[in-house]
Amino acid sequence: MLAKSKISGVGHYVPENVVTNNDLAKIMDTTDEWIQERTGIKERRWFTYGKDTVASMGAEAARKAVANAGLELSDIDFIILATLSPDYYFPGPGVKVQEALGIDTIGALDVRNQCSGFIYSLSIADQFVKTGMYKNVLVIGSEVHSHRLDKSTRGRSVSVIFGDGAGAVVVSATDKDSDAGILSTHLHSQGKYAEELCTMGPGNMTTPVFETDYVSDPEHIFPKMNGSTVFKHAVVRFKEVIHEALNANNMAPTDIDLLIPHQANLRISQFVQAKMQLPQDKVFNNIQKYGNTTAASIPLALSEAWQEGKVKEGDLVCLAAFGSGFTWASALVRW
Ligand code: UT7
Repeated sequence: MLAKSKISGVGHYVPENVVTNNDLAKIMDTTDEWIQERTGIKERRWFTYGKDTVASMGAEAARKAVANAGLELSDIDFIILATLSPDYYFPGPGVKVQEALGIDTIGALDVRNQCSGFIYSLSIADQFVKTGMYKNVLVIGSEVHSHRLDKSTRGRSVSVIFGDGAGAVVVSATDKDSDAGILSTHLHSQGKYAEELCTMGPGNMTTPVFETDYVSDPEHIFPKMNGSTVFKHAVVRFKEVIHEALNANNMAPTDIDLLIPHQANLRISQFVQAKMQLPQDKVFNNIQKYGNTTAASIPLALSEAWQEGKVKEGDLVCLAAFGSGFTWASALVRW
């Protein structure tokens, strides 16, 4: 008989360096007014070079999630880490999280699904736990964007959006008759839009790394985004994938106690809230403080929502994401 899985603990970590919109206005042609009006973002965190890494931030968030679950690090059976900004080209940072946590040679899997990476990872953890292979799986989203953003005016439409941070949850086996648990996850992709939001290099579609045009061409090293196309697809897919999760569980939007959308843009969250006819207090947003932290944004928001008492036992929590790939995903969780 299949087991059931639940989120047993949450945690997050953000770098201490706060970068306001006015700070950005000092280094590129932008304004606090433009950024707030188009994205809702007031400030974000940037990592400290030499101190923070994707692995170190992920490990810190993970330690908090394990403590929050009332577990010891030695109880963890497997690590899944989602990021689009790995510390090395390879290996992925999952193994460095394993090292930092000192959990003896357990497996570490790196997931590359950008903004949807956390829900993809949650889904993988859910399957491992349900089949009985593992009892406690760490699921981490961690990003350092600020090291690879074009901080000149040329890159302003992308660089003002993204921020650094990490969030983590523990997915644990639970009694199959318990109400609490991950009810379902739903994963999608559409690769024909891969180039609408991507970083080309280092990769095999760009010129070799050591050629001078590689380093001189910002197209190859910085993220590029067709913002309006991404926006248009996002609002459709968010709504669609939330309905998919509700339908799979014979539920309606009114059953949702808290929707935690990937923090892409406050305007996208507000659009989805309106389309789903949800009251404002049923949608959690913290993009105002952290910007878009891609794979980290949902666990970071979930952890803060929990800290603020907005996620309570028995609540129906809906997680939904859309981003580069395009990929999109949702999860329904009974807390
Ligand atoms: O997490 C992954 C998913 N990502 C998303 O969901 C992002 C989706 N897209 C968006 O959120 C929006 O498209 C953006 C916030 C990225 C951009 O907003 P927009 O309303 O689509 O602006 P735009 O790119 O069409 O640019 C409008 C104007 C342009 O000037 P002109 O051509 O009208 O004179 C830009 O050059 O705003 C200018 N602009 C800026 N001005 C001041 C672009 N970036 C900035 C900036 N500051 N940072």
